[in-house]
Amino acid sequence: MLLPSTVSPPSSSSFSSSFLLPNRRRSLRLFAIALLVLFGLTFYLYPSIFGRAYFVPATAQVNQEPASQPRVHQIHTDPSLYRTIFHTGHSTDSHREPPANLTLVLSITNDTRSWGRMTRKSQQVWTFGDYISRIRQQGLSPESVHLGILTSDLTAYGTYIDELASSTDLPFARAEIIYLPSLPCMTDSTSEGQRKDRHTTDHVKQSARRRRIARIRNFLSSHMLTPAVQHVIWLDADVYDLPAGLFSRLVELGSIPADRDIKNIVKYVDTSVHTTSTAQPTASAPKKTVSTATSAVAATGKEKTSQTSTPSAEIPAPLPIGLITLRCQDATHFDFDRNAWAGFGRRPSYPELRKLLNGVKLPGMEGWAKSLSQLIKGTTDDQIVKLDAVGGTALYIRAELLREGLVFPPYAIAGTHWGSDGEDGVETEGLCYMAEMMGWGCYTLGGQWRTLHADA
Ligand SMILES: *[C@@H]1O[C@H](CO)[C@@H](O)[C@H](O)[C@H]1NC(C)=O
Ligand SMILES: *[C@@H]1O[C@H](CO)[C@@H](O)[C@H](O)[C@H]1NC(C)=O
Repeated sequence: MLLPSTVSPPSSSSFSSSFLLPNRRRSLRLFAIALLVLFGLTFYLYPSIFGRAYFVPATAQVNQEPASQPRVHQIHTDPSLYRTIFHTGHSTDSHREPPANLTLVLSITNDTRSWGRMTRKSQQVWTFGDYISRIRQQGLSPESVHLGILTSDLTAYGTYIDELASSTDLPFARAEIIYLPSLPCMTDSTSEGQRKDRHTTDHVKQSARRRRIARIRNFLSSHMLTPAVQHVIWLDADVYDLPAGLFSRLVELGSIPADRDIKNIVKYVDTSVHTTSTAQPTASAPKKTVSTATSAVAATGKEKTSQTSTPSAEIPAPLPIGLITLRCQDATHFDFDRNAWAGFGRRPSYPELRKLLNGVKLPGMEGWAKSLSQLIKGTTDDQIVKLDAVGGTALYIRAELLREGLVFPPYAIAGTHWGSDGEDGVETEGLCYMAEMMGWGCYTLGGQWRTLHADA
């Protein structure tokens, strides 16, 4: 066939010669073709037969791996939603009792840079691997921990899968990595809110960002919440240091029954005078509720004071613990998370706060909201202090509240009216408003409890 034909055009010659092959050679060739087709089909159908795609690293492909190696399952339900689920050797059989105090750890990241880096004392660049180590160091029993990570970047998605698939002793029973490049129901009109005309461009941008983050958080939280989960801990990706024993402390406080008297651990800071004595430009709805509650307390307090004259009688019974956060610190800010506060007045800027913490008196300060660092001043590690708003750097949420409807408000929830957005309380800042309406309180850990935040 390879020799130039002298008799007829090459095409017809090769056709006839192959057609006239001896029988055995022809069947061999047919066999080879059948094998090729079979191989091709297997390759093509592999993901639907075995439920995984090719880019899972080789270590994760094996079905009969030792118990310490995670089992991997990939689901691509939609072109825009990829999920990779890891069951580690710590996961309990589905027919067994779920582990006690099952804790769900959640984080969202843009991409692999979201883990943050240091720029001052070192040039450390934090990774997903560091994040896993942080969870491991918390020392919760791995059977009682689930992990949920959402990213909007396909490269990051692959990196996280590789990291988990090549690890042998993961500190959780189950982890799910989710790739979600855009929210399925986010439209242009919902991303900017309805009241953009009344705000500056910066405000609109910031508000649009937080509306989006609220919806991403709600997506991840509702996606990962299984019936056995009792505790949810949100961690910002760029928080690089957690104090030892933090998770245990959060689980311990979050396990306290609603009817238990917690007055002995709550340090009461009176912020009620500020809500009634100052002019408040914002948040008419919560203000009304708070001032009614305050006056009710004040009225009963006065009655009691006239009989017993104990000032402690005025302290209202603390709400049961639903949400907990703690101070977050970075290289230049003692109090980095400025979304955590108590009271509803103006929130001081950081330079103002620094002065306040140094004992400087500023005009109007009586009416200002108190920041977390002011509230925890003079507290011990065992104490907690009530908050009216929290940030998300490290945040505990009692899972039952999420099942009953607590969400990160994807709009300004305080001061809403029919047909219009509210004034305040988007994303983490509206959580406590909602939780309190459900009868549960937000608190911060007192004393020395703190997380550390990356420089950039
Ligand atoms: C995430 O991405 C958005 C848009 O691409 C950007 O504005 C934002 O700063 C990023 N956030 C982080 C933490 O990298
Ligand atoms: C859950 O943790 C709390 C706090 O550590 C503990 O008091 C409680 O007994 C635990 N619950 C169970 C069912 O083990």
